[in-house]
Amino acid sequence: MLTVIVGGAFGDEGKGKIVSYIALKDDVDVAARAGVGTNAGHTVVYNGKTYRLRQVPSAFVNERTKLYIGAGVLVDPEIFIKEVNELNLKNRIWIDYNCTVIEEIHKIRDRSDSHLSKVVGTTGSGCGPALEDRVKRIAKTCKEIDFLKDFCDDVALRINHALDKKLSVIIEGTQGTLLSLYHGTYPYVTSKDTSASSLCADIGVGPKRVDEVIVVFKSYFTRVGGGPLENELSFEEAKKLNLVEYGTVTGRPRRVAPFNIKLAKRSVMINSATQIAITKIDALYPSSNKITEYEKLPKEAKEFIENIEAELGIPVTLIGTGNEVFDIIDLRKVKLRK
Ligand code: IMP
Ligand code: MG
Repeated sequence: MLTVIVGGAFGDEGKGKIVSYIALKDDVDVAARAGVGTNAGHTVVYNGKTYRLRQVPSAFVNERTKLYIGAGVLVDPEIFIKEVNELNLKNRIWIDYNCTVIEEIHKIRDRSDSHLSKVVGTTGSGCGPALEDRVKRIAKTCKEIDFLKDFCDDVALRINHALDKKLSVIIEGTQGTLLSLYHGTYPYVTSKDTSASSLCADIGVGPKRVDEVIVVFKSYFTRVGGGPLENELSFEEAKKLNLVEYGTVTGRPRRVAPFNIKLAKRSVMINSATQIAITKIDALYPSSNKITEYEKLPKEAKEFIENIEAELGIPVTLIGTGNEVFDIIDLRKVKLRK
């Protein structure tokens, strides 16, 4: 059983929370991180602790889950080792031999290039320049880094074998569909495609192996860095509504706009999504906070969800109602009749 979890908007939809919940609730066997690299910051709040993950899969919260990083993902060796040590992941996490290495020079290039840092407003994590070098076929890969030797493996083989054995596998994407190099708001995008198809390619699984694609949206849209954001609220308006967030990687305040049905429809199409997860419904409707039963949501929150479901034509199966992993309404049993 393979489930792909993909961001539907401009990143920061709450993928970390959805992935960590599914990993624990479904006791997932294998989880692989796909996507770009350390430009992403996935937040997981579990047992009262907040984790901000730039490299390792959010499924780490389930100690039984084996963790992988696919060949398409950029690895910053220092950040990887730091997260592995802090979370004590040795012997349960592997990266592909062929992952591209982000080096110091890539970060310097990302931060000193005025187009990247000022116009696009990148995270400065070196992802774009490292991919440039990959395209030129001069980038280093993880198998060349001595202290990563024990972590290197053939991730495509492991994941395909896990699927052959009927194990449960989740693929975690980074960023969001609207930041895709091809399908997003170019040139204000990240340095790779971020849609579900590319997430599979990052790992090395073919499209026929995918069972479910969960597209994650937040109950409102945010973006950091440059680029269009339809119906953007002023900082003051966003502040008044309590919707201002700060970037996990960069600390920059995020720009805010209402949920955009038109863009969400496009994301559902591009990802061939089968389910929708909506996070932070409690930010729009505070009395939703920590509710775990759909019936107990306020009427306005239910209408909001039902409108999205009607417009997008696929079920909303997971609704985030707070920061903690288990602050969630899980409708999968009700809505997915299999
Ligand atoms: P880069 O990915 O660092 O090259 O940045 C390119 C654009 O994508 C900038 O607008 C970034 O703010 C945005 N971006 C990259 N990663 C994330 C993310 O994880 N969440 C939100 N925005 C991101
Ligand atoms: Mg983030």
